[in-house]
Amino acid sequence: MILTDIKISLATIDDKNQLLLFFKHYSNPELLERRVDCYISHNFTILAKDGDKIVGTLQWYVKEDPNCGVAEFEEFHVLEEYRGKGTGSSLLSFGVQHVKDYFSKHKIKARRIYAFVGKEREVARHLFEKHGFKQISEVGNLFSDDEIDLIYCLEI
Ligand SMILES: CC(C)(COP(=O)(O)OP(=O)(O)OC[C@H]1O[C@@H](n2cnc3c(N)ncnc32)[C@H](O)[C@@H]1OP(=O)(O)O)[C@@H](O)C(=O)NCCC(=O)NCCS
Repeated sequence: MILTDIKISLATIDDKNQLLLFFKHYSNPELLERRVDCYISHNFTILAKDGDKIVGTLQWYVKEDPNCGVAEFEEFHVLEEYRGKGTGSSLLSFGVQHVKDYFSKHKIKARRIYAFVGKEREVARHLFEKHGFKQISEVGNLFSDDEIDLIYCLEI
């Protein structure tokens, strides 16, 4: 059992190599590197770390015109051996606050955060709901033919 203290922070360029490993399931190395570069330079990636080790992620970005005050959450993932200890919940809390702070800093009214969540992902759905997100739509098979996706949305 892992009992260490998990710290939540924002990813920097120093985290790039570890993030490449964390997302190695994206099998195309060139596309993966571009994606991770984007996660760090254009988007915001929130990390859960056990010491220096990345054990969870949540990344978000501004959607469309920043003045709309809308953000999307993606890449909500905690390593299997670290699940069930509050890390996912901490990532979501940090993420919601970070979105609010970002828009506030730019004097934009934060309006909504949304996320696509697989219908069968009961733990993720429970956590989004716990953090005030509501299911607003079911969109059918979007990212895979095996899983139906839902859209969850938080009104800020
Ligand atoms: C979703 C995920 C990030 C959550 O991370 P985590 O660190 O385990 O989350 P936490 O420990 O903070 O919270 C787990 C919660 O799920 C609850 N839970 C556990 N099993 C559950 C189940 N079968 N159904 C509903 N809720 C469940 C726990 O009770 C806990 O809720 P609580 O805080 O109200 O007690 C992690 O499970 C994961 O990486 N899953 C695979 C990837 C994934 O599905 N990502 C979401 C894509 S949108």
